[in-house]
Amino acid sequence: MKGLILSGGRGTRLRPLTYTRAKQLIPVANKPILFYGIEAIVRCGITEIGIVVGDTKDEVKATVGDGEKLGCKITYIEQDEPRGLAHAVLVSEQFLKNDRFVMYLGDNVIKDGIDSLVNEFRTNKPNSQILLAHVSNPSQFGVAELEGDRIVKLEEKPKNPRSDLAIVGVYMFDENVFKAVHSIKPSWRNEYEITDAISWLIDNGYSVVSHIIKGWWKDTGKADDLLEANRIMLELLERNVKGKIDPTCRIDGKVVIEEGAKISGSVIRGPVIIGANAEIVNSYIGPFTSIGPGAKVTNSEVEHSILLDECEMTDLNCRLTDSLIGKQARIMRTKGLPHVNRFILGDQSEAELL
Ligand code: TTP
Repeated sequence: MKGLILSGGRGTRLRPLTYTRAKQLIPVANKPILFYGIEAIVRCGITEIGIVVGDTKDEVKATVGDGEKLGCKITYIEQDEPRGLAHAVLVSEQFLKNDRFVMYLGDNVIKDGIDSLVNEFRTNKPNSQILLAHVSNPSQFGVAELEGDRIVKLEEKPKNPRSDLAIVGVYMFDENVFKAVHSIKPSWRNEYEITDAISWLIDNGYSVVSHIIKGWWKDTGKADDLLEANRIMLELLERNVKGKIDPTCRIDGKVVIEEGAKISGSVIRGPVIIGANAEIVNSYIGPFTSIGPGAKVTNSEVEHSILLDECEMTDLNCRLTDSLIGKQARIMRTKGLPHVNRFILGDQSEAELL
């Protein structure tokens, strides 16, 4: 079997961060989201992985490389424009050839991995197997109708959903999917939809079965989803405190502090990760916070947040929470009059004052 990870797309829901970086490279617990997918596929014993890339291909290639460090061989497949998930399959035909494959959306995080699903597909050999999850808001997803474990109908964002089973970002196919992706037409939003390709398989008599996921998963398309994924993945960390920590500090619970980090006069209450060469001075870092490498927090309080590499928080006299702060961004309190708030925010940034 081969693996196919989709790492193109527009990432409009995560602007402005996605103006300057691939959304799949935004870190969760200080690890790019994309790596969770690669690791999940490698854990299934699959070592040949294709990554579909778009505009951000150079950054993805520079971060992931040839895959050797992750125990796999990566082939990059270029998609000229994000024309839909089924189009990503179409452009990967040369790479996938006649092999069965697992397709994983590069912005998804699945806590317990995908081993059991992949093993089921290997053993039972249906033409396709799709990962589904019970959700409370099915109208916002592709929704499946089942007979036993067979999928008999798929509907994209239905107004009156026939079930609460939504499609999660993992799909498995044999070579018949290429007949489907060559046959379908673009949808109203001008994308080749994977739900149309799967419906084509069902309508043409191919076996499409389901696997209902029990554990936690997330499609990290939006900032709040990233914060939730960060919370869940931080809880899985084992305490590992390196770096230079002065004796006045208190470090409680599951805390990872990487080499070269410096902590002084501060309280760190896990789960927290603090990246290499970050500096925390007279500050409180509360639960569910990831501080990127080289970031600096001084006289401030931060919790339930993701701070990317080299950003700086200085003299905040309120607690920063539920926040996602981009690389080298700076938030500081300055002295002087009048007492005002001043912002220099990029396009489509968001600032909330409470
Ligand atoms: P989506 O989250 O559906 O789309 P998007 O990345 O364009 O984001 P937004 O809706 O915020 O603009 O994509 C799911 C995954 O598939 C994501 O990792 C990007 C990837 N993808 C491709 O590689 N090619 C494509 O043509 C599309 C639509 C998505």
